Amino acid sequence: MKFSNRLDLFGKSVFTKIVELKRKKQESGDEVFDLSIGTPNIPPAKHIIDALCTAAADEKNYIYAINDQNALLEAVSDWYDKRYQVNLNPKTEICSLLGSQEGLAHISMSIIDEGDVVLVPDPCYPVFAHGPMLAGAEIYFMPQKKENDYVICLEDIPEKIAQKAKAMLVSYPNNPTAAIAPDRFYEDLVAFAKKYDIIVLHDNAYSDLIYDGKKGKSFLSFPGAKDIGVEFNSLSKTYGLAGARIGFCVGNEKIVSSLKALKSNVDYGMFLPIQTAAIAAISGDQTCVEETKKAYEKRRNVLCEGFNAIGWKMDKPQATMFIWAKIPSHYEKSVDFAADLIENAGVLVTPGSAFGPSGEGYVRIALVQEEEILKRAVEAVKDSGILEGSLIH
Ligand SMILES: Cc1ncc(COP(=O)(O)O)c(C=O)c1O
Repeated sequence: MKFSNRLDLFGKSVFTKIVELKRKKQESGDEVFDLSIGTPNIPPAKHIIDALCTAAADEKNYIYAINDQNALLEAVSDWYDKRYQVNLNPKTEICSLLGSQEGLAHISMSIIDEGDVVLVPDPCYPVFAHGPMLAGAEIYFMPQKKENDYVICLEDIPEKIAQKAKAMLVSYPNNPTAAIAPDRFYEDLVAFAKKYDIIVLHDNAYSDLIYDGKKGKSFLSFPGAKDIGVEFNSLSKTYGLAGARIGFCVGNEKIVSSLKALKSNVDYGMFLPIQTAAIAAISGDQTCVEETKKAYEKRRNVLCEGFNAIGWKMDKPQATMFIWAKIPSHYEKSVDFAADLIENAGVLVTPGSAFGPSGEGYVRIALVQEEEILKRAVEAVKDSGILEGSLIH
């Protein structure tokens, strides 16, 4: 059998070795603290599950959905108005997604042709690069450097590249660096995109996981943003609906309609009971969003304070469910450190190199376990001696 060359685009996963080490560790009966994948472990609020269950009990709801229900489109429009002060036309500026990952993967196929240049942050959430690559794009990486608080330096993008670029991916609060971008960045971004006629694809998965009293915004709330781009949003993290696969692409009418056209050939829409659950989530009591945020904020404090106290120095992230931590200086490669960490402390994190070349030297720690487990993970790292370079093998 011969398969598509497309599958070779992604390279070998850096996880293979680490997942194998995790399996061995589990088999030997040792405790494993999985802080690798960003799967949220905080369940949805009761009113959301109830809405889903009631709709799922109705036999009429098993037809192909084909389109988004008007009630869902109205709910998204109201949500964006209330939550972000952004006006969206329900008929033309909103498209539901089977999770924002699906939309981020497919959108390139509706706007990118073979050889088009797409600007992608580095490090980045992998689909930002993989989606355009599947559509045949040439990727230009925009480094997110510590010295610029992990925010893209638009002025560092060479003029020639900017002129050739067709689209760019941007996302703050950021996965994996946990950075947030100042308003000034977004104002410059809109001006930059207009100057070079570049489509902006903004991923806003973490706008409700911003800590220390700050409130996240929408990219579309900046003047002119809707002229040049769209925003992806997700109910996975803040509403605990990751497995239900609910996301949205909203904003520029032409971009949204091109995605809808593509998707009408790829899927038959979101399962109707899930549309009902989405309406319940974004229109109902929002206390759950605040509670989820507080839970992650507490976990962040426990883990950062714990690791700093035992000598692994790291900044407290201002947002997201991740900590972006420098690896100890006696390691060169994040994958080696991550392998030793799982083998010796039972703590599983993601090597920074998995997120792009600039991710080397870091690991991403996901706050996906309860506080008590996080405290035990800190103890396990301390006892292993890995931070001092004195591993007890
Ligand atoms: C930055 C970012 N965007 C998108 C997603 C995908 O979310 P969804 O569950 O909506 O597909 C994730 C998931 O971890 C993410 O971190």
